[in-house]
Amino acid sequence: MKIILLGYMASGKSTIGKLLSENNNIPFIDLDKFIEEQENKNISAIFKEDGEVYFRLKEHQYLKELLQKNTDFILSLGGGTPCYAGNMELILADKNSTSVYLKANIRTLLNRLEKSKLKRPLIADLKSDELAEFIAKHLFERSFFYEKSDLKIKIDNKSVNEILTELNNLLP
Ligand code: S3P
Repeated sequence: MKIILLGYMASGKSTIGKLLSENNNIPFIDLDKFIEEQENKNISAIFKEDGEVYFRLKEHQYLKELLQKNTDFILSLGGGTPCYAGNMELILADKNSTSVYLKANIRTLLNRLEKSKLKRPLIADLKSDELAEFIAKHLFERSFFYEKSDLKIKIDNKSVNEILTELNNLLP
């Protein structure tokens, strides 16, 4: 089985994915890291030098490649992955995949992203007072895709262990 973790930036996809992988002994792949390795460049440099359209193209290409693998894995997506290039449809059509939306509210995301926005090219240049409005609008647009996931877990005010327990109980 493939488990695909998705959700907004800073919703904990990579953290939860890594721990779920260790606990269940299933290999972990982080799509952003995979793209960086394949392209030999970090995400910020890809956005800056090649542009977002190129990034979305590569994101789609590598996601497709990974879904075609015949092995089990836990995959954490980038925050935008489900919202471009028919990626969410591709995931939902894959009968061996279970998609999980790590659902966070605006306050949780704002708190986390204020501390970690610099490594994220979409928000790195936003001022603190612009960030809340950006997240609110962006999350509203993206929720349409995220909500299509097979499973949803609310993560606000929960510890990593609580989220992992909930997830393990929900997984088929
Ligand atoms: C993006 C989220 C990032 C990364 C890229 C674009 C997005 O991943 O894929 O900067 O569009 O939300 P994280 O969700 O891991 O920050």
